[in-house]
Amino acid sequence: MRTLLLCGALLWLITYGSWVVAANLPSGYADFKRECSDCHMPFPPQMLPQRSWKQLLSHLDQHFNADASLDAKATSNISNFLQNYAADSANGGRLGYFISHNIAAGETPLRITDTRGWRRIHGEIRPSAWTSDKVKTRSNCLACHR
Ligand code: HEC
Ligand code: HEC
Repeated sequence: MRTLLLCGALLWLITYGSWVVAANLPSGYADFKRECSDCHMPFPPQMLPQRSWKQLLSHLDQHFNADASLDAKATSNISNFLQNYAADSANGGRLGYFISHNIAAGETPLRITDTRGWRRIHGEIRPSAWTSDKVKTRSNCLACHR
């Protein structure tokens, strides 16, 4: 398990780090980093397809029982950024390809943790890990990834 965790963390760094560096701070990234990290980590854009980000960003006032609404300009900047780096965008990379090809055409998942791709990647983790004190919820990526 320990090796697995380390392995995941390393791969994570490569995937998560690379889009930021390679993209050289793309437009909208600053807004995203500032506005989408108050309540949870800023989730990697390549883990959901464009239609999911679009839908999430059009209902920020009803965001998983929280009000995450922003002014129109910030909303559109962030929406554009997320769609530019989404799973099915030209910048999605191999991870994005895997994620988007594991979602049915008619589906618009609003949670990364609901996608078949994410669930497949995490399929070998024992169920009790998700509810442990350290993790608490599947969306607490940083409990296991750095
Ligand atoms: C006011 C607090 C708040 C802000 C600000 C916020 N969120 Fe959230 N977000 C939540 C809550 C609460 C959840 C549900 C967490 C859970 O159930 O584990 C959530 C969940 C999510 C999820 C699903 C995670 C999963 O389970 O896969 C995504 C994607 C997401 N937020 C994106 C965003 C984006 C993009 C922004 C910035 C525009 C943002 N959030 C800003 C509170 C917030
Ligand atoms: C309970 C711990 C845990 C949590 C919470 C968790 N992960 Fe993971 N994750 C892992 C482990 C362990 C692996 C390695 C799995 C393997 O290689 O078999 C992994 C692998 C991955 C990978 C594949 C490695 C790569 O970079 O290609 C990605 C991407 C990933 N996780 C993203 C996420 C995201 C995003 C979240 C939050 C929505 C999350 N994980 C939450 C433990 C966790």
